[in-house]
Amino acid sequence: MPRNVEAKSVESDADVTFAAIESQTTMNDRRSLIAVRNSVRRAVGEYTYLEIGSHLGGSLQPFVLDPSCKLMWSIDKRPAVMPDARGSRFEYADNSTARMVALLTALDPAIGDRLRWIDSDAADIPASTINPAPKLMFVDGEHTDRAVYSDGEFCRRVMDPAGSVLVFHDAQIVYLGLRQLFLDWEAAGVPFTAYHLPDVLMVVEFGLAIHDDAEIRPLLLNNHVGYLTSLFVNDVYRHVANRFPAKQYWALRKTAKRWLRR
Ligand SMILES: C[S@@+](CC[C@H](N)C(=O)[O-])C[C@H]1O[C@@H](n2cnc3c(N)ncnc32)[C@H](O)[C@@H]1O
Repeated sequence: MPRNVEAKSVESDADVTFAAIESQTTMNDRRSLIAVRNSVRRAVGEYTYLEIGSHLGGSLQPFVLDPSCKLMWSIDKRPAVMPDARGSRFEYADNSTARMVALLTALDPAIGDRLRWIDSDAADIPASTINPAPKLMFVDGEHTDRAVYSDGEFCRRVMDPAGSVLVFHDAQIVYLGLRQLFLDWEAAGVPFTAYHLPDVLMVVEFGLAIHDDAEIRPLLLNNHVGYLTSLFVNDVYRHVANRFPAKQYWALRKTAKRWLRR
């Protein structure tokens, strides 16, 4: 099949899969999430999914629509206001579990049989609660480095030790938390493989290799997509650096340094 035909059909799959409930993901994020879901399913068959940060349930849709996903854990603290590494605080209007469950029930009237939700920060949940253990996890909760580190550690505690895949959203925001997690796991001898998928996903494989899957390989090979998108969305910082007062501040600093070296 020609490449453009294949890409078009995957994109329309993402359109359909994410049509019912609003999700805070881009079209490329959705395509990548579907590819990860499909490759995990090809590798293991039936599986449990866990998500931190569900909001309206938008990113739960691909799993609600997949009969091989036998159980979904949705963890969401649902604070009125949340801190964010970009500086401002974020508010989500009418961010309730009742609203999410109603939307998911419209998608699958029997969703109650497969969905377990916990209104909490993941760090406050005993690992033994998460039974059965997930093979696929998605972290999209509080977007701070501290929270993503904590959520990543939680996922590693509760995941299926026989082999799991952990996906982080918005890696271009929480990159310092991810960097620290990876440094600490490397130092502790934790075996893992991590890579970026478009637009802004960081995928971590723990003993479950999906990177050679026919749906993942082309995304990985064309890694310019996620790399350039991430730089593009962070370009606001370069704009700030090249304007008053940051530009004048850097010039002053340079002059002061030269002066002090004399
Ligand atoms: C970006 S939204 C999630 C979007 C959703 N994944 C989607 O694609 O539509 C972030 C969610 O994280 C939740 N949240 C904020 N702080 C949290 C925390 N400490 N632990 C768990 N969830 C948190 C918020 O209530 C919000 O629903």
